[in-house]
Amino acid sequence: MKSLSKIFLSLPKVELRRGFYILILMLPLWTTKSVAQETNKNMDIEKKIDQLLSKMTLEEKVGQMVQFSGNSAITGPLKAVPRQLEDIKSGMVGSMLNVVGAENTRELQKLAVENSRMKIPMLFGLDVIHGYKTIFPIPLAEAASWDLEAIENSARIAAIEATSAGINWTFAPMVDIARDARWGRVMEGAGEDPYYGSLVAAARVRGFQGDDLSTVISMAACAKHFAGYGAVEAGREYNYVDISRRVMNDVYLPPFKAAVEAGVSTLMSSFNEFEGVLATANSYLLREKLKGDWAFNGFVVSDWNTIGEMLIHGTAKDNKDAACQAIEGGTDMDMATGAYRHNLAELVKEGKVDEKLVDDAVRRILRVKFKLGLFDNPYKNCNAELEKEMLLNPLHLAAARDMARKSIVLLKNEGQMLPLSADVKKIAVIGEMANSKDHMMGFWSAQGEGKDVVTILEGIKAAVPSTEVIYAKGCGVNEEKPVYDDAIAAALESDVVVMTIGENRIQTGEASSRGDISIPGKQEELLSYLLKTGKPVVVLLTNGRPMAIPNLAKNAPVILETWFLGSQAGNAIADVLFGKYNPSGKLTMSFPYATGQVPIYYNHRNTGRPEKPNSSRWISHYLDIPNEPVFPFGFGLSYTTFEYSDLKLDKTTMDRNGSINISLSVKNTGKYDGEEVVQLYTRDLVASVVRPVKELKGFKKVMIKAGETADITFTLSAKDLAFFTKDMSFKAEPGDFKVFVGTNSVDCKEAEFTLNLR
Ligand code: BGC
Repeated sequence: MKSLSKIFLSLPKVELRRGFYILILMLPLWTTKSVAQETNKNMDIEKKIDQLLSKMTLEEKVGQMVQFSGNSAITGPLKAVPRQLEDIKSGMVGSMLNVVGAENTRELQKLAVENSRMKIPMLFGLDVIHGYKTIFPIPLAEAASWDLEAIENSARIAAIEATSAGINWTFAPMVDIARDARWGRVMEGAGEDPYYGSLVAAARVRGFQGDDLSTVISMAACAKHFAGYGAVEAGREYNYVDISRRVMNDVYLPPFKAAVEAGVSTLMSSFNEFEGVLATANSYLLREKLKGDWAFNGFVVSDWNTIGEMLIHGTAKDNKDAACQAIEGGTDMDMATGAYRHNLAELVKEGKVDEKLVDDAVRRILRVKFKLGLFDNPYKNCNAELEKEMLLNPLHLAAARDMARKSIVLLKNEGQMLPLSADVKKIAVIGEMANSKDHMMGFWSAQGEGKDVVTILEGIKAAVPSTEVIYAKGCGVNEEKPVYDDAIAAALESDVVVMTIGENRIQTGEASSRGDISIPGKQEELLSYLLKTGKPVVVLLTNGRPMAIPNLAKNAPVILETWFLGSQAGNAIADVLFGKYNPSGKLTMSFPYATGQVPIYYNHRNTGRPEKPNSSRWISHYLDIPNEPVFPFGFGLSYTTFEYSDLKLDKTTMDRNGSINISLSVKNTGKYDGEEVVQLYTRDLVASVVRPVKELKGFKKVMIKAGETADITFTLSAKDLAFFTKDMSFKAEPGDFKVFVGTNSVDCKEAEFTLNLR
C-alpha cells in the first residue's frame, strides 16, 4: 500500500499513470478486510496504545490533546500565542490545522517525530469541504443531486487531492440539519431532512475515509457541528440555540449517528449550547449519547476556540475552569484555545480532573493516528511530486463537471424554452456572476483558485463555438445604482438572454447570516427591463441558500438553480443549457415565499388549526403571505415529463417483523430520456406525541427513456416508522399510516396501511 505512490510516480507519464490511477481509485474495493483481520488489527492497535500511554508523562498526554493553527486559513480570532515550533519539538502538539502542502507538512511532521521524546506523528487538519484544489459544487448543491454515489465520489476525490498535499484530516462533513435559510451555513450541509441528511452524511464519510484509513488516499473525516448548531435563533450565526431534547434526538442527531455508524473518525463540538450547557462541555451529548449509546470510539475536537468562548458566554470564570468543563463534558482535543495546553496537567495534579479522562481522550486520538497508518509512515501524505500529479488531475475535473451538472435544479421552464438550440446565432450573457471565477467556487473552497475555474461565460462560449456570445455585466449582485444600458442593448441585439441573479459567494457560509433572503440589489429590476425586450430570458440563480423569490418565480419564464458549482461551473451549466445533460436535481431545502416564513420545512409538525381551503380566520396562517413555500422540498423539473400511476400496497396491514411493498409505475411522457427522483413519504396518523405531517422514508433515482415506463418498488418495515415516543423510547407505535409517493414532497399519490405490533 505504502509504495503505491512510488509505483505511480515511476510510470512514464500520462496514459499509464491515468490507468494506474483509475486502479487506485478502485482500491478500497480490494482492500476490504475480513472481520477477523480487522479485529486483530484493532486489538494490536489497543496494545500499542497501552504501551505508549504507560510511557507518556502527563504533559505529553495533554500535548496530544492540543491543536494549534498555522497561518494559511484562519477562520476566527486566534487568541493563543503559539510558540508552535518549540511546542511541536517537545511533543506538546497533537495536531495542526491550516498548514497545507506536502513540503510544509513534512517539515513540521519531522519536528514532531524526530525531536519529541515519544515520536508521535501529528494530524494535519483542514476544512476540505467540497474539494481541495479541484472544487466541487457546494454541499447543499451536491445534495440536490440525490446521487449518493456521486456525492461519495466527490468526497473521495477531495480526499485524494488533500492527502497528496499533506492533509490527513478534514473537518467535514458538516451534517447539521438546516431549516432556516437566513443562516449562511446552510450551504455546507445537505438541507432540511434528517433521513436524507443521514444518507448524505454516511456517503461523505465513506468518501473521505474509504474502507481503510491507512491507504495513502484516505483521510480521517469529522462530522460537525455536534450538535444543534443549525437551530441558531433567528438564523443568526453563532447565536443561542433552544431546542427540546426530543427535537435534538428526532431532527439534529440522526445524521451524526449515521456518520458514526459509517465509521467516522472524529466529531467537532459546536459553538452553541444545548439545555444551557455549551456543546463543548455537554456530557449529555458527548458522553451519554455519542460515546455511550452510540459507542463512538474516535475523538471529539472542539470548534475554533469554543473552550475559550465559555468565558464570554459566562459559563466559565477562566480558561482553567473552561478546560475542566470541556474535558469532563467529553471534548478530547482543544482547537486553537490553548486552554488544555496550559491548564489540563495542573487540573489533574490538583485532583480536579481524573487522569483517566485524559487517558481516554489520548487513547482516542492515538487510535485515529494508528488507524491512519501514521506510526508506520508519518510522511505518507508528504510527497510533493504526487501532490503535483493529483491536484487538478483531469479525471478530477471531469468528475467535478459531472457532479456540477447533477446538482443543477430546473425550477421553471415555461414554453419548454430549454434546452437552447446550439444553432442560436447570438446570445447575450448578463450579470456579475456570469463572468466571475472566484465566486463560482462558493464559500470554503480550501486551496481552490479562481484561475482554475471555468466561468459561466467561458462555458457557454466553449459549448457553442459558432454562436456569437456577448457579455454585459448590467448589474452587480449588490449594486444599488447600476447602469443597465449595455445589458439592454446586448439583449436587444441577441436571440436569447442568459442572466445570472442571486448572491455572491461570501453572502453565504460561516458568519454570513442574512436578515433578508430576497434577491439583493437591483437585479430583479434589470430582469424586468430585459423581459420587456420580448427576448427569451433564462435566469441562472447563483446562491448558497434558498432565497425568497416569489416575484422571480412568477415573472421569469425559465429558472435554473445553479448554486455555486465549483471549478467546472461554466461547463456544467452549458451542458444543461444546450441539452447535453437533462437536469435531474431536486431541492433539499424549501424555497420560501418570504423571509418571514423561515424556518420553513416540509416535515413540520401539525398544528391544531392547520390551514384548509376556505377555512376561517382562526387558523394557523399569515395574513399577508401564504403558508406554502414557492418551491417545496424535493422539487425539480426535467426537460421531459413523468406520469405517476398504479400506486399499490401488497398488503394493508404490517406486523412487527413484517414489511409492506409499495409499487407504482412512472412513465416518461416527454421527448427526452431523463432521470427522476421518485420519493416515498409516510405520515403517522395518531401517535403518543405530535408527529410530522410527512417524513421522507426512501427515494429512487431512475433513468427512464422517452416513452418508457419504470416499475418502482419500495419496501417499508416497522423499524422505518420508529421515533422517540412519549417516554423517549425509540420505537414504532401501532396504528394507521399514510403513504405518499411522488415527484416532490407536495405532488404525491396516497395510500394507507395499518401497523399491528403483534
Ligand atoms: C468553523 C468550523 C471549522 C473551523 C476550522 C470554525 O470557525 O465553525 O466549521 O472547521 O473553524 O477552520
